[in-house]
Amino acid sequence: MRLVILDNASDVAEWAAKYVTKTINDFQPGPNKYFVLGLPTGSTPYGMYQKLIEYQKAGKISFKYVKTFNMDEYVNLPRDHPESYHYYMWNTFFKHIDIDPKNAHILDGNAPDLVKECLNYENKIKEAGGIDLFIGGIGPDGHIAFNEPGSSLTSRTRVKTLAQDTLEANARFFGNDVSKVPKQALTVGVGTVMDAKEVMILINGSHKAFALYKAIEEGVNHMWTVSAFQQHPHTLIICDEDATLELRVKTVKYFKALSDVHQKLIQENETMERYRTLH
Ligand code: GLP
Repeated sequence: MRLVILDNASDVAEWAAKYVTKTINDFQPGPNKYFVLGLPTGSTPYGMYQKLIEYQKAGKISFKYVKTFNMDEYVNLPRDHPESYHYYMWNTFFKHIDIDPKNAHILDGNAPDLVKECLNYENKIKEAGGIDLFIGGIGPDGHIAFNEPGSSLTSRTRVKTLAQDTLEANARFFGNDVSKVPKQALTVGVGTVMDAKEVMILINGSHKAFALYKAIEEGVNHMWTVSAFQQHPHTLIICDEDATLELRVKTVKYFKALSDVHQKLIQENETMERYRTLH
């Protein structure tokens, strides 16, 4: 596992956007070779999306041959509700880039048969050839996507009832009224994300410091589902200083001493082969 510690949230956004750009460009996507990207919503990846839009407009990256799969979506929230993940993705990102809308996949929380919707989603990921890079965020309770504490670490895409901590954390998007937060969501499973060739998780803020500690310094634990990625061969966690507050000084020093190596991961003249060998 790699931990890239940066000064603040805007550095995290920029680093992540550069990494996505480099990874897609190194892959050299084309009409017979699509790059498959897993995407999160939330306040954490927002800055990364802004940067990616900027890079696309500047001609540094294209999403023409990219397929995307979002992590999750609320159940029974209309698609055009400003807090639906459909609304977030289209307005924050997709409508500003050159992606073909048919290649941008988001779970449908209003599907008549939710179980079937989840199964189909897994099949669509498989048909696309699997996810090349899954980008994720976490909740303060260490959940990835909507894999709440106690979720199976081999779980697949399914309906999930949200934990009280998540309802409270997300109430800020619903006028601070916890009763307005949908109680259920569709989410990719931990196993779905684990199948990706690479996983990049963005973590900012002191309110997520304990979760980062659980993710890195303690063992794999289904009560902190992000900790499962200790067992993924290519996990990259990008965090800001505030998120490291619960880590041991020794841990922080170790990863900070690797900052030159980390910088190379986003340098345009470095190849992915080099990345793999460094991992
Ligand atoms: C929700 C989403 C997660 C997201 C998390 C963090 O719980 N299901 O996918 O990572 O929120 O959101 P934020 O980045 O706003 O803290």
